[in-house]
Amino acid sequence: MPGLTAPSDYAEEPPRHPDLKINAKEPFNAEPHRSALVASYITPVDFFLKRNHGPIPKVEDLSRYTVSISGLINKSIQLSMGDIWALPKYNVTATLQCAGNRRTAMSNVRKVRGVGWDISALGTATWGGAKLSDVLELVGIPKLSSVTSLGGKHVEFVSVDKCKEEKGGPYMASIPLKQATDPDADVLLAYEMNGEVLKRDHGYPLRVVVPGVIGARSVKWLDSINIKEEECQGFFMQKDYKMFPPTVDWDNINWSTRRPQMDFPVQSAICTLEDVDVIKEGKARIAGYALSGGGRGIERVDISVDGGKTWVEARRYQKDNVAYVSDGPRSDKWAWVLFEATVDIPANAEIVVKAVDSAANVQPEKVEDIWNLRGILNTSWHRIKIQNSSGRSKL
Ligand code: MTE
Repeated sequence: MPGLTAPSDYAEEPPRHPDLKINAKEPFNAEPHRSALVASYITPVDFFLKRNHGPIPKVEDLSRYTVSISGLINKSIQLSMGDIWALPKYNVTATLQCAGNRRTAMSNVRKVRGVGWDISALGTATWGGAKLSDVLELVGIPKLSSVTSLGGKHVEFVSVDKCKEEKGGPYMASIPLKQATDPDADVLLAYEMNGEVLKRDHGYPLRVVVPGVIGARSVKWLDSINIKEEECQGFFMQKDYKMFPPTVDWDNINWSTRRPQMDFPVQSAICTLEDVDVIKEGKARIAGYALSGGGRGIERVDISVDGGKTWVEARRYQKDNVAYVSDGPRSDKWAWVLFEATVDIPANAEIVVKAVDSAANVQPEKVEDIWNLRGILNTSWHRIKIQNSSGRSKL
């Protein structure tokens, strides 16, 4: 497409904040330090997870940029940015979490393949854009459709970036038509992030945001939308981002036996301490994030200082002056919940967090039980080992 192109090398990458922790340079994959995550409810764009599978595409000429919609519909169309801007604009606050968040800790148990991530492969932004359900009405697909008159059941998003996993082809993913046409699912074609025009790293000029679902389905640098009978057959849907049991390894894997992962499960992590840290005995403030997929709220966050024998409940919050109520009308259902607790730190404490979502799903205790060869969805209890009780205070 002439308006948006994908370089084949990394010579023209955008500028990035020097404080990001770079997990891979080419393609560029970076996360902020964990303490930066809890500094604000909305993550500043500079510190937002950057997750790429190829060089960053570039808009050469916005006036020539179009998104095509075709497939199992009666008439294909091309939409310009003007057409997208003309649709009602929605602001949706949603957390994007990479399925590989906390992969490094899973790899420490038994080696997994993939870019290593600490606990910051996620961020929360207010995304501004058009609802996909409104966009699809432009091609004659009514709201709340599960199937088009021509048999389309899935909405595939295709980018322009050159990914080695796709043998130099573009990144792609799909979601069910039912979700795409449901206005309450808040799926966006977003052109703004935190009130500013999207940055190149995050999908300029237009990206998909699928709230409550692993970040991999939120396709950046959107080129085309295809309405299909089957889900997308791309690498990242069929040969990656699937959850296998610990018994499956590279010598006995059969990718077709599992479905592409969509919603993410309940997750939490402590951001004010390193995994091995030193704090004084006595009172300390512990803070972090908790979130669940599918729009489920966070019902409870439990903190233990004795490795999980006893627990206290943390205070949960999102916005200033609005008490957080899980699934409450004033809560951001697609966004993380920050938590804090002041606890008494004994000598040689092991601090643990686990969250419970509004469906009473709770994080698994042990990473070994959810180990999988691609190291996705490490949602095991996050543990912090306090080495000794002398040293700096975190209060
Ligand atoms: N879209 C394209 N075109 N190319 C990509 O490499 N990575 C996906 C998704 N969309 C990706 C993409 C993954 S795995 C994640 S977690 C999110 O984008 C990350 O979005 P971000 O970099 O804006 O945080």
